[in-house]
Amino acid sequence: MKISQRTQQIAPSPTIGMAARAKQMQRDGIDVISFAVGEPDFPTPDHICEAARQAMADGHTKYTPASGIAELKEAIVQSMQQEFGLTYDPSGVCVCNGGKHALMNIWQALLDPGDEVIVFAPYWVSYTEQIKIVGGQSTVVMTDADSNFQPDLDEVRATVSDRTVAMLIGSPCNPTGAVYTRRTIEGLARIALDHNLTIISDEIYKNLIYDDGQHFGPAMLSDEVKQATIIVDGVSKTYSMTGWRIGWLIGPDEFVSKVSSIQSHQTSNPNSIAQYAALAALTGPQDCVGQMREQFQRRRDYLVPALQQIAGLRCPKPAGAFYVFPEVTAHLGTELAGQRIDNSLQLAEYLLTQAHISTVPGSAFGAEGYLRLSFACSLDNLREGVQRLHQALEG
Ligand SMILES: Cc1ncc(COP(=O)(O)O)c(C=O)c1O
Repeated sequence: MKISQRTQQIAPSPTIGMAARAKQMQRDGIDVISFAVGEPDFPTPDHICEAARQAMADGHTKYTPASGIAELKEAIVQSMQQEFGLTYDPSGVCVCNGGKHALMNIWQALLDPGDEVIVFAPYWVSYTEQIKIVGGQSTVVMTDADSNFQPDLDEVRATVSDRTVAMLIGSPCNPTGAVYTRRTIEGLARIALDHNLTIISDEIYKNLIYDDGQHFGPAMLSDEVKQATIIVDGVSKTYSMTGWRIGWLIGPDEFVSKVSSIQSHQTSNPNSIAQYAALAALTGPQDCVGQMREQFQRRRDYLVPALQQIAGLRCPKPAGAFYVFPEVTAHLGTELAGQRIDNSLQLAEYLLTQAHISTVPGSAFGAEGYLRLSFACSLDNLREGVQRLHQALEG
């Protein structure tokens, strides 16, 4: 059967692939510790589940407006106002089937074939594949652990070409957990304004910043930058609602109305019941968010020093999200238990088959020489995983 050329270039998501392999091994009775997952391990808070049950009882089981129910859009703009002092009209919001879908909608509305988007590596796996799906091109700017994964602004400026139309900022970052400093955000915004680029700001991890750090997004810089920015957010990570599939984008009305038209033809509204659950998440008690953040911070504070003690791992402390991204180059080009390890994929394979720990190779994120480990698992599992890692890498 014919497969389009564009589709042939698309790789499956390696993070979902690795998590699925770990699950299959677990089903086969193998005791795998999964460091590969990209979702909080907490249950969705009760009051949110209850709102979904109530929505069904109230008959909210039919189509809604394609871009989402008015109450949810209102709650989204109110939370932007309260948390960050950013004023938006509900018409600047489109509620989508998760943040991933919000991003996909954006590329469809923004990019023509051959248009370029500046993407910072290590990047979330879906960014570059999504851009390819619509015929766009990613121009990748590398960052590394030495600079705490902050991009070099001169390099970014030099990367802009006459085909560049957008810049994609993900802070806090998946996979590194890095949070961009205000200086970085200012510098990137300056470049974007100078070259008339749209800024896509993926803020899905904005509520998971540790040590009293505060989220700072480009739209908070000035009205001019806000007008050039589209924010992507959702309930998945903040409220442990990954399966409910509710995310959104916020931006200039004219752009958002085009996105809403696309969505009306592609998927119609996101799940009606899940929208009411997301409404309860945003308008209900927020202490669950702080409690989950505290737990993540406790795990991070255990994991980072523990990994730093393993020979050949260099592990920067992530300021946000729930991933660590240790550099593992010292183990590449070596043999472990008689097995040749030349790259991060082979190392991840080795750890899965020999030590029964699933991780994601840095190469999946455009950064060879690293591994991503998620700490969205219990402290007990983290301890056991670290011990296995220790044995597998040091013998
Ligand atoms: C960086 C980043 N952006 C966006 C998303 C999308 O999340 P969702 O589609 O569950 O809202 C994810 C999920 O893993 C992510 O890691």
